Amino acid sequence: MRLSSTTSLALVGLAGSALAHVGPTSRRKTMGFGPVHPHAKFHTSPASFAKASVFTSDPYDIARSFVTELLQDQLSEDNEFALRKDSYTDSATGVTHVYFRQMVNGLEVADGDISVNVKGGTVISYGDSFYRGYAPGVTLMDEPTTPGPHAEFCGLLQGQLVERLTLLREHAAVANQVTMSGAQLTDEPYERMQRLFRWNCDHLRTPHELVERGFGKTSDIFDPRGALLQFMIAATPDDAVVADILNNHDEIIAGMTSWFEPQLVGDNNAVLVEMINNVPDTVSPVKAKAVYIQLPDGDKTMLIQAWRFEVEMQDNWYEAIISHQVPHRILSVVDWASDAPIPSEPEQRQPARYHVFPFGVNDPSEGGRTLAKENFDPLASPLGWHVIPVSNDPLSSNLKKKGQYSNYTTTFGNNVFAHENWEGQNGWLHNYRPDGGDDLIFNYPYDPKITDKSDSLDEAKKYINVTITQLFYTSNLVHDLYYRYGFDEVAGNFQQHNFGRGGEEGDAVIANAQDGSGFNNANFMTPPDGQNGRCRMYLWNTANPYRDGDLEAGIVIHELSHGLSIRLTGGPANSGCLGWGESGGMGEGWGDFLATVIRSKALYSDYPMGAWAANQAGGIRNYPYSLNESVNPSTYKTLDKPQYWGVHAIGEVWAEILWVVAQRLITKHGFTESLFPPLPLEDGTIPLGDFYRVPEFIATDVPKPLVPKHGNSLIVQLVLNGMKLQQCRPSFFDARDAIIQADQVLTGGENFCDLWLGFAEKGLGIDAAVQGRTPWGGGVRTDGFNVPAVCRSEDTPEPSPYPEPEPEEPGDDEPEDDWPWLHI
Ligand SMILES: *[C@@H]1O[C@H](CO)[C@@H](O)[C@H](O)[C@H]1NC(C)=O
Ligand SMILES: *[C@@H]1O[C@H](CO)[C@@H](O)[C@H](O)[C@H]1NC(C)=O
Ligand SMILES: *[C@@H]1O[C@H](CO)[C@@H](O)[C@H](O)[C@H]1NC(C)=O
Repeated sequence: MRLSSTTSLALVGLAGSALAHVGPTSRRKTMGFGPVHPHAKFHTSPASFAKASVFTSDPYDIARSFVTELLQDQLSEDNEFALRKDSYTDSATGVTHVYFRQMVNGLEVADGDISVNVKGGTVISYGDSFYRGYAPGVTLMDEPTTPGPHAEFCGLLQGQLVERLTLLREHAAVANQVTMSGAQLTDEPYERMQRLFRWNCDHLRTPHELVERGFGKTSDIFDPRGALLQFMIAATPDDAVVADILNNHDEIIAGMTSWFEPQLVGDNNAVLVEMINNVPDTVSPVKAKAVYIQLPDGDKTMLIQAWRFEVEMQDNWYEAIISHQVPHRILSVVDWASDAPIPSEPEQRQPARYHVFPFGVNDPSEGGRTLAKENFDPLASPLGWHVIPVSNDPLSSNLKKKGQYSNYTTTFGNNVFAHENWEGQNGWLHNYRPDGGDDLIFNYPYDPKITDKSDSLDEAKKYINVTITQLFYTSNLVHDLYYRYGFDEVAGNFQQHNFGRGGEEGDAVIANAQDGSGFNNANFMTPPDGQNGRCRMYLWNTANPYRDGDLEAGIVIHELSHGLSIRLTGGPANSGCLGWGESGGMGEGWGDFLATVIRSKALYSDYPMGAWAANQAGGIRNYPYSLNESVNPSTYKTLDKPQYWGVHAIGEVWAEILWVVAQRLITKHGFTESLFPPLPLEDGTIPLGDFYRVPEFIATDVPKPLVPKHGNSLIVQLVLNGMKLQQCRPSFFDARDAIIQADQVLTGGENFCDLWLGFAEKGLGIDAAVQGRTPWGGGVRTDGFNVPAVCRSEDTPEPSPYPEPEPEEPGDDEPEDDWPWLHI
């Protein structure tokens, strides 16, 4: 279906005039979509792995020869692959995660990724979205004349909008008869879809407008500026910037200056990156490079030449791919920002103390503040939370320093820089931070008063010391907690200094408390490993006095978990793997899930998300997380509903599925009050304590895995390990399979059936299926309530042998009725 500029404009006009606008208007504009590849999947138990055995124990050589064999005669001088240097071995599981990027004619295929998981000399799983076919000639290819998948998705979205509007009109007519009052012709799902449309589809008309105005008529394959400017028209939230670009197009292009920098892709493939200055509405030079991208073509894909841009703006950090050919088309865009919503000597100094809501108290409605110690984990934070080696201290020239360390008495350290950001701007280095003095005591009164509405903001600002302290405390604990479950330096975590343990450094989390750029939300920006993550927490004007998101741990944890899942999925240096669709939805869901597991208690209870900040008992999602189907009826098929277009709604379903899975593990293995593993002994070994156990199956390879003993700690471990195993842009099926494989690796599959039963309870069993996904939602799903045959008998389920023998994955589109475990 072709969406012409006139239909698009007509729809927006209709929406703008006929519908009253409700809800917060200060929503951050964000775009996200891309081609949905028919062939990209996660393969547990690769059929050809036996053949890939080579006379080497080097996991990288094994992975390389595996991929060589997988691609066979496809490979040539013009079609090769680069081993990405963010590949790593997980020291806890012994799994080496090896990432490859496809290179065609010396250019990267921006969405050509293979990730291979190797353990004990064997490829245990892989994900693959490489282009298959012959390298195109180096001359510009003719692009297909069809409008492309994106326009088609926009057409589907438009159809959904019209349907919803019709429904609303019907309801309004009924309501009017009853009440004789004007009912509003809008609701939250409608508004959400409308925003999706405005942000992601409006720009479809831009190429035509530009051509009509006489710009960008010719392609210059060496000049990215025209394509970039076209992207900026779509990306900027500021109409004045759009008008300026349209009126002064050629002058703006002429004003852009640039220089080139070489960039290594893997060990020996270098590409050139153009750094472009003076791009409207950006806050740093834009990085541009020539790439290929794949567009679906039946059940295969074709290659299109394109520009890949990294565009940092005030509220977004985009990775965008725009076609070379004029009129340029935006083919894929991921926003690295997501909304919410070697141990040295132990420290000599006294640990800091903070007057805070302690970890586990989700928000002020759940408990009071106490004076908590800087109980940093010596493995995760060898220097504590307030010390940065001078070499990696962005403030070092301003500070008196002793020896090679900067010792701060403010909320500034190796993992987190926490500060006020009332201005809502991008600057942060010199923003206000509370000072705990030489004794490092951060103790401030918190007693917000009911005020006139006009004074609410000033009243909230009085407690800035309290909220920065809380944000610093929560964020450091989350750093340390996730570290102990494997989000360490090589896996791409956020630290200024990496203590020589690998990974890219210089990327502590910039944490803005009471950020002035919005209300009633929060967001997190995740660039690739080595660049600072940025967390922005907002005030909520939902109550009097205002509520402060910094004080609701669940919201902070949700945001920090974006950094976790994006760095772990598809490799630390690939931030484009959870951009939209089911993958983007899971990016939201993991945050809700982890926040909920962290706050949960031994005595089971349901939990809403963000209830305190939003001042709404049911929280900010459609349902609380619950085992009770009447309380939370979500299943896999729920994603079909038009109200579930968009990543947050998709994420809610994923979090609910994981919540149900988690409870099965808790029923089986019990519950631990503290999710923090025991501290290492003097010799560096980690004691089992009451936290770990050695699995019944004894892995022949070392290290012997330490298995969290209790259900809640185990699920956190499996979820994190699953993130590492799954490939870039995973589906629900891929992420489920990766969690099940994570259990195979860690325990030899002790929980194989518990996991399957949990997933199947919510429709994600072996016979679940989907047809026709779009980048934002929709499609037709089939709930699958079946589990593998081995899990169906009354007998104790046999752990399946490791690795699980399994034929090639069944098709994405078909019910998996040829699955070997299925027993009808
Ligand atoms: C600063 O921190 C380092 C590392 O923890 C420590 O060795 C040193 O004694 C500290 N210096 C002061 C003055 O506290
Ligand atoms: C924050 O604490 C400092 C002392 O560390 C104090 O001088 C300042 O007034 C406090 N700020 C507010 C807004 O209370
Ligand atoms: C499930 O929730 C419904 C609605 O709140 C309630 O009536 C029912 O008792 C609950 N069931 C269980 C098993 O708790």
